[in-house]
Amino acid sequence: MSSSSSSSTTRSLALATTYVVVLLLLHVPNSNAQLNSTFYSTTCPNVTSIVRSAVQQALQSDSRIGASLIRLHFHDCFVNGCDASILLDKNGTIQQSEKDAAPNTNSARGFDVVDNIKTALENSCPGVVSCADLLALAAEASVSLSGGPSWNALLGRRDSLTANQAGANTSIPSPFEGLANITSKFSAVGLNTNDLVALSGAHTFGRAQCRTFSNRLYNFNGTGNPDPTLNSSYLTTLQQTCPQNGSGTALANLDLNTPDAFDNNYFTNLQNNEGLLQSDQELFSTAGAATVSIVNSFSSNQSAFFASFAQSMINMGNISPLVGTSGEIRLDCKNVNGG
Ligand code: HEM
Ligand SMILES: *[C@@H]1O[C@H](CO)[C@@H](O)[C@H](O)[C@H]1NC(C)=O
Ligand SMILES: *[C@@H]1O[C@H](CO)[C@@H](O)[C@H](O)[C@H]1NC(C)=O
Ligand SMILES: *[C@@H]1O[C@H](CO)[C@@H](O)[C@H](O)[C@H]1NC(C)=O
Ligand SMILES: *[C@@H]1O[C@H](CO)[C@@H](O)[C@H](O)[C@H]1NC(C)=O
Ligand SMILES: *[C@@H]1O[C@H](CO)[C@@H](O)[C@H](O)[C@H]1NC(C)=O
Ligand SMILES: *[C@@H]1O[C@H](CO)[C@@H](O)[C@H](O)[C@H]1NC(C)=O
Ligand SMILES: *[C@@H]1O[C@H](CO)[C@@H](O)[C@H](O)[C@H]1NC(C)=O
Repeated sequence: MSSSSSSSTTRSLALATTYVVVLLLLHVPNSNAQLNSTFYSTTCPNVTSIVRSAVQQALQSDSRIGASLIRLHFHDCFVNGCDASILLDKNGTIQQSEKDAAPNTNSARGFDVVDNIKTALENSCPGVVSCADLLALAAEASVSLSGGPSWNALLGRRDSLTANQAGANTSIPSPFEGLANITSKFSAVGLNTNDLVALSGAHTFGRAQCRTFSNRLYNFNGTGNPDPTLNSSYLTTLQQTCPQNGSGTALANLDLNTPDAFDNNYFTNLQNNEGLLQSDQELFSTAGAATVSIVNSFSSNQSAFFASFAQSMINMGNISPLVGTSGEIRLDCKNVNGG
């Protein structure tokens, strides 16, 4: 009797403990939990089509703009989370902008189009849609309008009151870093190797300046020779695009064959040693790396790439958003409210 009563006490304690643990788990603050695809369903029901129309219009005069817009979302999310901090100009309390950080200066583009999209949103839904959500929606529109997958972007982010130039200098991967460094920068924001390979597939469209890869053409790792992994006819083509004494600002296509289409050719390029950036080619050329089989799988199956890409974009879009009453809804994406 006493033994059964004590074991039932133990059982009740165990149940109670389980209950408390479950409650605690349910109450762990999860900054991602609050984003959802219907956040604006009553306050700005047409938000997705407004952004899509504006991106479509911009694409008519600049076939590169979709690539530039998705890159803004990436460079935003990797620095203090997806909070539109990349969009703030140096002005007033913003003494060091992310725009002037090493990965962005003379490189990040599309800010004027962001302002046009914001104007369209303010005309329909004044003061409602954040600049951080604008970037997530513009990224999705850019991909789907270029032949890539479509997905329901998660929404409900708010905009930062600050920028972090030092963070942009250190958190955004560089094309000269090795695979281990880049993997650790993705891991630092909760993204895994599958996300790294899938998201790198965004280099299926857009351009890169010669200065971001010309070391591979002339003097790789101080050898005085080209990167031995580069396909030799591709090397010759790139040397013509990027002469040794050129300015470094000339442009090459990130995907040599279908430069404006969102497809899986990026991964086939890597298999052919035709990745443009060192950071691209290393996904395939690093012996024994877990990335190699993922590249092979995306190269042989575009649907698998598209499904992974959409999921990884959602994962990236979930990096530390400001939600609830944190931050603000900026009226002008370039400036915090009420200077
Ligand atoms: C994995 C590490 C990555 C590195 C080292 C990297 C590096 C670069 C570099 C150096 C450029 C050329 C910039 C210039 O010459 O001005 C570039 C362009 C671009 N990146 Fe990445 N990137 C990475 C990942 C990503 C991710 C995750 C995305 C998006 C999901 C992305 C999207 C783009 C796009 C679309 C462009 C072309 C932009 C344009 O034409 O304006 N990149 N990237
Ligand atoms: C979406 O998120 C907002 C803010 O957290 C919340 O008010 C709303 O109920 C959510 N909608 C759904 C369908 O979960
Ligand atoms: C919203 O979208 C619907 C159809 O998607 C359209 O009929 C309506 O005119 C749009 N409203 C505004 C204000 O853009
Ligand atoms: C970031 O990098 C740029 C360019 O290299 C440099 O001018 C700037 O001082 C750096 N900013 C910070 C805060 O470290
Ligand atoms: C890679 O990371 C290590 C450790 O942080 C650093 O010392 C090294 O400079 C990085 N390599 C490059 C090319 O940035
Ligand atoms: C230009 O490039 C050539 C090699 O192609 C090199 O010998 C020469 O020193 C370079 N000149 C300058 C001014 O950098
Ligand atoms: C390609 O990937 C899709 C999506 O993951 C999958 O359903 C399909 O079975 C794959 N096809 C082949 C031939 O492996
Ligand atoms: C600087 O920011 C304030 C508000 O924060 C704004 O009124 C002003 O127009 C901004 N200046 C420029 C040049 O954008």
